[in-house]
Formats: sequence, C-alpha cells, structure tokens
Amino acid sequence: MSESMKIVFDESLHTGNRAVDVQHKFLVDIINDLAEALETGQAAGQVKKTLNLLKYYAEWHFEREELCMDRFHCPAAEVNKSAHRYFIETFERFQGEYRESGGSEDIARRMYTELTAWLVGHIKKIDTQLGDCVHA
Ligand SMILES: [Fe+2]
Repeated sequence: MSESMKIVFDESLHTGNRAVDVQHKFLVDIINDLAEALETGQAAGQVKKTLNLLKYYAEWHFEREELCMDRFHCPAAEVNKSAHRYFIETFERFQGEYRESGGSEDIARRMYTELTAWLVGHIKKIDTQLGDCVHA
C-alpha cells in the first residue's frame, strides 16, 4: 500500500459545519493510522486496535452529525441515517470476517479500501449538504 492511499483532508471534504469538520478530520486521522499500520506491516494487534477505535469513533460521530442535520432540518437527514447504518453494518461484517480469519492482512486491506472509498464519497455527496442547511 503506497503513501498515496492515505486520505488528504482538503476542502472537498468540508461540510460548512465546523464541529462536523473537526470530527471528520479526526476520522481521517484514524483511517490514515490504519493505512500506516497496513503499509508498514505492523502487528495484527495494532490493526485490530485501530479498527476498534475507528468503529467506536465513527459511531460517536454519526450520532452527532445526525443530531446536527435534524437540528438544521436538513433534507438529507434520513438518507444520511440509513447511509450510516449501512456503513456500520458493512464494517461489522468485515470485522467478523477479519476476526474469523485470525487477523488476515488481506481482509484488513480490503476493508480499508472499501470503507475508505465509501466514507470519502459519503462525506462529499451527503455530508456536504449540511452546509446549505446551516447557511439557509
Ligand atoms: Fe454522514
């Protein structure tokens, strides 16, 4: 995995809500830690720890972002909630596979690639709609 697979937190990921942006930045930091762990072939224990942190933080953040969309009566609020459920379900499915495999690096990489692409696409397509509601 090359350095370029890390996510750059640039303007394309800004939502227009500062609290949400700070949380997204932290999510990206955790994702990049995971990329680093995979890239440098760190012990499975480190990968597992980062995955646990990612799930824990993603769930915490989703809840806050959903409340924020509700508060601003954002039209994307419901779509956002089901997208978050999809992410957590997919994450848990991967995590189960990962556990059963006894910490397969291959599964961890697949998980990284799929979930990262999903998350970046989600922020750009759905979370950025938050800005219009905040400034409406
Ligand atoms: Fe979202």
